[in-house]
Amino acid sequence: MGDVRKGALLDIRDLRVRFGAVEAVRGVSLGVDEGEVLGLVGESGSGKSAMALAIMGLLPPTAEVAGKMLWRRAAGGTEVDLLRQTPEQMRQIRGREIAIIFQEPMTALNPVMTEGRQVAECAEAHAMRLTGREAKRKAIAAMEEVSIPNAAERYGDNPHQFSGG
Ligand SMILES: Nc1ncnc2c1ncn2[C@@H]1O[C@H](COP(=O)(O)OP(=O)(O)O)[C@@H](O)[C@H]1O
Ligand SMILES: [Mg+2]
Repeated sequence: MGDVRKGALLDIRDLRVRFGAVEAVRGVSLGVDEGEVLGLVGESGSGKSAMALAIMGLLPPTAEVAGKMLWRRAAGGTEVDLLRQTPEQMRQIRGREIAIIFQEPMTALNPVMTEGRQVAECAEAHAMRLTGREAKRKAIAAMEEVSIPNAAERYGDNPHQFSGG
């Protein structure tokens, strides 16, 4: 699957993910360059999510992972193997350099917390030393960026007040 390209932004080599007897990902190799979009297509259960979670370092502890996932860091261009980072190192990469948008938007947000607060929380978790006010400003800017009208006013709305799309 895909070609292996040395120096790619993300260079995955022979990735394997196993859940007990289930081999969810069986030796995937691919490269993704900067600015490139890659679509993965496969039937349900073919291991797409397992692969995405492996890249993010978010697989459950029951999963066994093998292979290499070389990631070229934004700062300095040093290459690191995502599979060999400590949880703290992954936390530094996640959200700032690599992010994931989960499926099912209607269940991904906490229904009893305002939408704006949940976006702001994300900014607080991933950008160091943000004040509450700065996080709120960033959240509103992000909402504007995806064309939510009157973002500042809608900051306090709960998720069900937004359309699923
Ligand atoms: N947490 C898990 N524990 C055990 N098996 C899992 C787990 N997550 C996924 N699997 C199994 O791994 C395989 C790949 O699943 P998944 O990556 O979710 O496929 P896809 O996203 O392509 O639909 C399936 O057989 C699925 O049942
Ligand atoms: Mg999936």
